[in-house]
Amino acid sequence: MPKLELHLHLEGAAPPAFIRGLAQEKKIDISGIFDEAGNYRYKDFWDFLKVYEAATSVLTSPSDYARLTRAVLEESAASGVIYSECFLSPDFCGGRDLGAWREYLHAIREAADQAERQDGIILRGIITCIRHFGPEKARETAVCAAETAGDWIVGFGIAGDEKAGKPRDFLWSFDCAREAGLRLTAHAGEWGGPDSVRDALNDLRVERIGHGVRAIEDLVLVDELAERGTVLEVCPGSNIALGIYPTWRAHPIGQLYDRGVKVTVSTDDPPFFHTTMTREYDRLADAFDWDAGVFETLSRTALDAAFCDSKTKTTIA
Ligand code: ADE
Ligand code: ZN
Repeated sequence: MPKLELHLHLEGAAPPAFIRGLAQEKKIDISGIFDEAGNYRYKDFWDFLKVYEAATSVLTSPSDYARLTRAVLEESAASGVIYSECFLSPDFCGGRDLGAWREYLHAIREAADQAERQDGIILRGIITCIRHFGPEKARETAVCAAETAGDWIVGFGIAGDEKAGKPRDFLWSFDCAREAGLRLTAHAGEWGGPDSVRDALNDLRVERIGHGVRAIEDLVLVDELAERGTVLEVCPGSNIALGIYPTWRAHPIGQLYDRGVKVTVSTDDPPFFHTTMTREYDRLADAFDWDAGVFETLSRTALDAAFCDSKTKTTIA
């Protein structure tokens, strides 16, 4: 089944062998982030963020990002993904320097164009600030986003530690991105509860929420999400791997869907969570008895909510 993915972190999609190879080439010792089997090793979400940043530290040039983009899109295409939106962080690509960021972006886009020609998969970018890096760095990130907004950089968002600061601390950055014509999303309702989702919606005025699943703890909010048509970028395998929910059957995506919330399915950081889009679909079908009709609804929701232009949507559809 052709799949659309709206929530994928480019660095978070780096296979561990790819990162190990680059570390060896550059003689950077990050052996502590891998377990005996060669997989990423982390204790909890906050440790995951540290491991993520350590893995990312070996990606030091535009050509590293070009290689990464090719590797990631090959995996996505193998899972039947035809359209993907990935989070890109100028924090990791040249340290928020606009000139450097443009070079990284050029390399990523060239790799994406090549993948589109080869496998037909279409990629677009959402520039993402990192919450625990603070509002000042987020402003610099937003400037990089505003300066490169267009038909390829289509959105702006915020990831990182949801417990660091408040959404309104990032108001300037989101206003700047919105004025540049970028569409908006924010990670919320993953490590924070319903109020965190409300703050992202009301203060940052985002149209999509990354995760958002903990809205289930307040059914008034769930009804509001359904009424407003807010789209959730749900990443069930990520939530289960990080211990937010114990099993697939306990994951709230089934209830959110049944209550009329517009949900979509993504992998977040697939090798960290031992997942792929194919695995997410298979587990959801098993856990909730979802048939092809439900997955078609998810795809239609993702197509409607995608941040790309209508010409691109016509190509996908
Ligand atoms: N960055 C990469 N993965 C993330 C997640 N699941 N939550 C917040 N920030 C992230
Ligand atoms: Zn994420």
